[in-house]
Amino acid sequence: MLRLEQVTKIYGDGTRALNNVSLKFEAGEFVVILGKSGAGKSTLLRCINRLVEPTSGKIFFEDQEVTAMDGKRLRSQRQNIGMIFQNYNLVSRLSVRTNVLAGALGRTSAWSALINYFAQDEIAAAHHHLERMEIGEKAGQRADQLSGGQQQRVGIARALMQQPKIILADEPVASLDPATSRTILDILRRINREDGVTVLCNLHLPELAREYGLRLIAMHSGEIVYDGPPEGLTPEVSDRLYNTPAP
Ligand SMILES: Nc1ncnc2c1ncn2[C@@H]1O[C@H](COP(=O)(O)OP(=O)(O)O)[C@@H](O)[C@H]1O
Ligand SMILES: [Mg+2]
Repeated sequence: MLRLEQVTKIYGDGTRALNNVSLKFEAGEFVVILGKSGAGKSTLLRCINRLVEPTSGKIFFEDQEVTAMDGKRLRSQRQNIGMIFQNYNLVSRLSVRTNVLAGALGRTSAWSALINYFAQDEIAAAHHHLERMEIGEKAGQRADQLSGGQQQRVGIARALMQQPKIILADEPVASLDPATSRTILDILRRINREDGVTVLCNLHLPELAREYGLRLIAMHSGEIVYDGPPEGLTPEVSDRLYNTPAP
């Protein structure tokens, strides 16, 4: 469903964040991308929805070339992609409900969003997703009154409002304690299994990556150094990931 062909990203200051990366993802996969800070994980996810422009290479989503899209086509392509962030990216002074409804903005006209008018079925959907995240009772609270784990559940509910085909989660548990991290990763795994949503999840902790990744992609200095089942990631490769300095 998603294909990267020789994607390279060189930032304005000359940093080569991705070096000739080619990858293929099938619908319904649960993939963990592992690598230490600076390996290129965020750049990889951001290129997929073109928050970052690849310097060269092509990206295809369901055989449409994402790297050739602009304007309306790119906006509609982004509807297929739910993003989840390390810092949750909620609007702290707004209610949990309104934050989740923001996920429907691609379908709601700008002026109705501006006056905070959402259709009844969007409101019902927001509540449904919050119930599913087991925080239905928090809908009326300000987002910043919730714990980190609860805020990430709001972030996931917001992503689900888009009815995404794929979820890109960029270090979704990096700010959470180990137990809460597992509950969030369990939720992502459940969405993947029950709804068939493809999940690409960046993690920097090898233990969690091995535990959750059905397919593990390891990155180092903008390159893919391993791609396969977690059992195949040898101690040598794992060691190289963390103990070899970037050039
Ligand atoms: N906007 C940017 N401008 C310049 N360099 C950047 C920018 N964003 C990331 N980088 C650099 O690109 C490399 C990869 O970063 P990143 O994709 O954030 O890695 P990761 O998510 O694995 O920590 C790093 O060397 C980082 O410093
Ligand atoms: Mg990152």
